[in-house]
Amino acid sequence: TKPIAVGLLGLGTVGSGVVKIIENHQDQLVHQVGCPVVVKKILVRDLYKERDVKVDVSLLTTSVDDVINDPEIDVIIEVMGGVEETKKHLLQALKQGKHVVTANKDLMALYGSELLAVATENGCDLFYEASVAGGIPILRSLVDGLASDRITKMMGIVNGTTNFILTKMCKYGSPYEEVLAEAQALGYAEADPTADVEGLDAARKMAILARLGFSMNIDLDDVQVKGITGITEEDLDYSKRLGYTMKLIGIAHRDGEKVEVSVQPTLLPDSHPLASVSDEYNAVYVYGEAVGETMFYGPGAGSLPTATAVVSDLVAVMKNMRLGVNGRSAVAPQYEKKLKSPSE
Ligand code: NAP
Ligand code: HSE
Repeated sequence: TKPIAVGLLGLGTVGSGVVKIIENHQDQLVHQVGCPVVVKKILVRDLYKERDVKVDVSLLTTSVDDVINDPEIDVIIEVMGGVEETKKHLLQALKQGKHVVTANKDLMALYGSELLAVATENGCDLFYEASVAGGIPILRSLVDGLASDRITKMMGIVNGTTNFILTKMCKYGSPYEEVLAEAQALGYAEADPTADVEGLDAARKMAILARLGFSMNIDLDDVQVKGITGITEEDLDYSKRLGYTMKLIGIAHRDGEKVEVSVQPTLLPDSHPLASVSDEYNAVYVYGEAVGETMFYGPGAGSLPTATAVVSDLVAVMKNMRLGVNGRSAVAPQYEKKLKSPSE
């Protein structure tokens, strides 16, 4: 059977994982979708950099057009990061009828509704499971698994870097700068880790979760944010002695049509289930009126866990291609309601 050709934008932490999973799980992919998957072109900045994964140098390019305008490429996987330029590239791809998979929460939090509308107009899929909570399949769980329920609250740890930092500072008294450098070396942190430590990355993820969970149009500006940069080793030591654990917690709460979304450092009693979520792991509680309390837990950052979500999105695109239903099943909320703040 004719293989599905994929174009990759980026070959860093996540991109390398994507190439490895496509290679190492090829049998599984063929079994799932009935044809092989090949990576045909890869956009990078530096053609000669040493990489975590072996790829034929002829696949690499520094020209985005080589990837997006290649008529044989069916699906674009965006794992390069960035917002404005990246948005242009993805719009260009969607307008050519190419399906898109992205791990980019910055982009989806800011321009998700516009990109999803263009995808639908062009009969394309646009999936972004990896943008929230790395390897945990939380977006599909909200959109499909809990589709029949009315979700009232979501609460959890959605940034791996800050959870890693707080865990190491609290457990071992390691200095902030040292643990941040370790999180960067392990590939958990964003290219500019300010977004992680200032809580913006978690805020973007909470905005995406709240949109999907509540089917409401929630802007990033509606999310109240406080990061972990003001927290000292002494704060953590003191709270530990009192039987509390500090976590960066995101909360999205809905009361009728009123919604509050926030991210802030929070002291949890050591007995609280979220207090034991450590290192780069994430966990999200979802409360539904009918289902009650559910909890999703797993690795929230890192190469292979994140790439699993990306390649699973690719499988979803390919299954839709086989059925001829692309663009009709995008993970897109109905934005018929606008957020109201509790004071309105
Ligand atoms: P990364 O390691 O910094 O990799 C970025 C890749 O994109 C690199 O290969 C880089 O090329 C390429 N690139 C970036 N800008 C480019 C440009 N203007 N032109 C050409 N190539 C460019 O980043 P990452 O950690 O894989 O993250 C990628 C995306 O996934 C981001 O949106 C991030 O938020 C998201 N994400 C990351 C994780 C994680 O755990 N790391 C988890 C979930 C989502 P060179 O290699 O040549 O420099
Ligand atoms: N920098 C992000 C984090 C990557 O630490 O959670 C996963 O989205």
